[in-house]
This record gives sequence, structure tokens and C-alpha cells, in this order.
Amino acid sequence: MISTNAVWAKARELLETLARDHELPLEGYRALVEAYAPETAAYAAELAVPLRQAVYGKAVFVRGLIELSSYCKNDCLYCGIRRSNASAERYRLTPEQILDCCERGHEMGFRTFVLQGGEDPTLADEAVSDLLHAIKGRYPDCAVTLSLGERSRESYQALFDAGADRYLLRHETADAAHYARLHPRSMSFEHRMQCLRNLKEIGYQVGCGFMVGSPWQTPETLAKDLKFIEELRPAMCGIGPFVPHHATPFAEREAGTVGLTCYLLSLLRLIDPTLNIPATTALGTIDPRGREKGIQAGANVVMPNLSPRDVRKKYELYDNKICTGEEAAECRGCLARRMESIGYRVVVDRGDARQPALSRTKPVCANYGDGTRGGDQEYHQPI
Ligand code: SAM
Ligand code: FES
Repeated sequence: MISTNAVWAKARELLETLARDHELPLEGYRALVEAYAPETAAYAAELAVPLRQAVYGKAVFVRGLIELSSYCKNDCLYCGIRRSNASAERYRLTPEQILDCCERGHEMGFRTFVLQGGEDPTLADEAVSDLLHAIKGRYPDCAVTLSLGERSRESYQALFDAGADRYLLRHETADAAHYARLHPRSMSFEHRMQCLRNLKEIGYQVGCGFMVGSPWQTPETLAKDLKFIEELRPAMCGIGPFVPHHATPFAEREAGTVGLTCYLLSLLRLIDPTLNIPATTALGTIDPRGREKGIQAGANVVMPNLSPRDVRKKYELYDNKICTGEEAAECRGCLARRMESIGYRVVVDRGDARQPALSRTKPVCANYGDGTRGGDQEYHQPI
């Protein structure tokens, strides 16, 4: 809560510094998190949206999300598909089902497929590599993002060599003690961080991220998240509210809020104007217009669900997850209309990160450095 004019003036100054320099000391991020209030969030969005606009114009990138498997060997305390949840219904898509999803997705204009799943031991390197070869062979114009959790460096390398372009692995929290409270002892903060470093070194476009409002999160842990993202310089960052799942140890915990999530989305945009930032399904779950609000705060990506309808309810990470009853085409159409309703448009584009354009000392300009431009230029084909 802003209690005095001095706090508001300080927050304004910090936001303007972040918009100009794209970096702050840890205490600066902490002060910004502590200064969260509707007025601060509105000012952060006011600064973030033009930065987004300069790089991406009114374009919203779409990623077709395919949820490969709900089997998971991990036991993250927050997650509905954790190993200990005996009531979770488990499924695993066959390669044919996955390729069918890609075929329909490609016809609908998707040029990125996100293959996400629990840490399912049957998703071994050979099986995933075969799948990557098949997808890349049929759709050479598409990017493939993997989100299959922690693996060895050799495994990440093998999947990169087989054609994977991007990897999403949320760091969940940049505070080691907080991480330990959200995960079983078998999982380590250091290993998670090492995985992210390995992915970057191998050459993936890397995505990290965290849940907003997870149990024991504080302004201090959030400040560490923001500083970590500033330093890692990922290509993508996924943040969404924590939403409780009834069959987990966090069943009675409160969900994160739309307001704080959108404020943090704006701060991410100020840290890196080129970052690919999704307005997540979790945000749409806690607020019927959550994804629209996310885009208006500075996000530039949406991820309609391409998984077969009969398995969607089984990939239940949290309660009341939306888009579980719709066909893929309905979901894509729904999101396209939602974006149009706020003056944006989803585009046919791989949606690669425009990272190299970022300079820490100069204002970010709309040139991509490859002859194309963001901003007002119509270089994308609308779908
Ligand atoms: N197994 C892969 C991994 O660990 O990265 C991908 C799947 S994992 C379920 C995807 C993400 O879902 C997690 O990184 C976590 O942030 C998010 N998630 C899990 N449970 C959640 C919950 N209860 N509320 C909101 N997000 C949740
Ligand atoms: Fe999936 Fe609306 S985005 S149904």
C-alpha cells in the first residue's frame, strides 16, 4: 500500500529508471514490489505498453500448447499432477496423436508448438528426438518449444541437436530457502539453476518464470526473481498466479491475484522490452478477462490449448483450469476474438525473441536488425 507521497514519488522514479536502464539493484526491485498498489501498477503499465509496442506493435504471438503426458516422477507441493496425487488421472499421448495435434495446429496458423509434460520417464531422449524429427520434417517453418522439466546436460544437448528451438523451465523462485519449502527434498534449487544455465549455453531460447502468490512468497523473494531474470536475460518468461489444487498440500492456500501478476508482467517488460511474455491460462482462470489484462499490462504471447479434448481435464495442474472443454479451433478462435476486443491481433509467426536489439544504455528501437521492424509496420500476416 502506498502510505505517503514520498513512497509514490520513489516508486515513480524507480519505474522510470527501470524503463530507461532496464536494470535496478535488488533493493530497488524490493521497493517496487512493496510499493504495489493500483496507482503504481497503472503507471508501470503506462511505461511498459509503449516499450512492448515499439518491439512487437499490436501483434500477439500464439503458441500451440500440447500437453504430452500427465505422468510425473516429481512431487512439487503445489502441482496437481504431482506423483503423490493418487486421484490424478494419468494419460500419455501417442506420437500419432501429437502429430495430429500439430497438423491441425499448422492448418490453424500456429508456427510454434509447445510440447509440455510432467517428468515422465518414458519421454526418453530417443522418443522425444524421434518426435522432433517428425515434427521438424513435416513443418520446417515451425519452432518447437520443449517443457519437460529437469534433464541432464547431455539430454538437453541431444534434444537441441534433434531440432528443439526453445525450452521452458520455470525457476519457480530465485530464493533457495523458498524453493525448498515448495519442493520435496529430492529436488534441488542448485540443480534447477544449473539446468537453466546449461540450456542457455547449449543455445536454446530459454524461458524461466515463477508463480505469483505462491506460499511463503515475500517482496524479498519476488525482488530476487526480478533480479535473477534481469541477469539471466532469458528469451521468455512465464509468470502466472499460483492457483490451489484440492489434492495437494497447498489445497487451502490462497490463490495469487490478477493485480499483482499484471504489475509484475509490466515490470518484466520494463526489464526487457524484447522478452516473450505470455498472458497465461492461470491468469485467465482466476479472472475471466485475465489474459486480456495481461496483454494490456505488457505481455505479448498467448498459448491456446491444442491437446485432444478428451485428455485436457486430466492435465489438471490446479483447480478450475479453463479451456478444458473446448476443441482446439474453438480455443484459438476464442483467443483471437479476445485479443481483437482490446485492439490487438494474433499473427502467423514463429515469434522468435528479438533479444539482440536490447541495449542497456540506449533506448530500445523498433529495428530488429534484420530488415524488419516492429511498431506500426504490418510485417505479420494476421490469422
Ligand atoms: N514438468 C515441466 C516442468 O516442471 O517445467 C512442465 C510442466 S509443469 C506442471 C509447468 C508449470 O506449471 C510449473 O513450472 C509451475 O510453475 C506451474 N504450476 C504447477 N502447479 C501450479 C499451480 N497450482 N498453480 C499455478 N501454476 C502451477
Ligand atoms: Fe481456450 Fe477461450 S482461450 S476457450
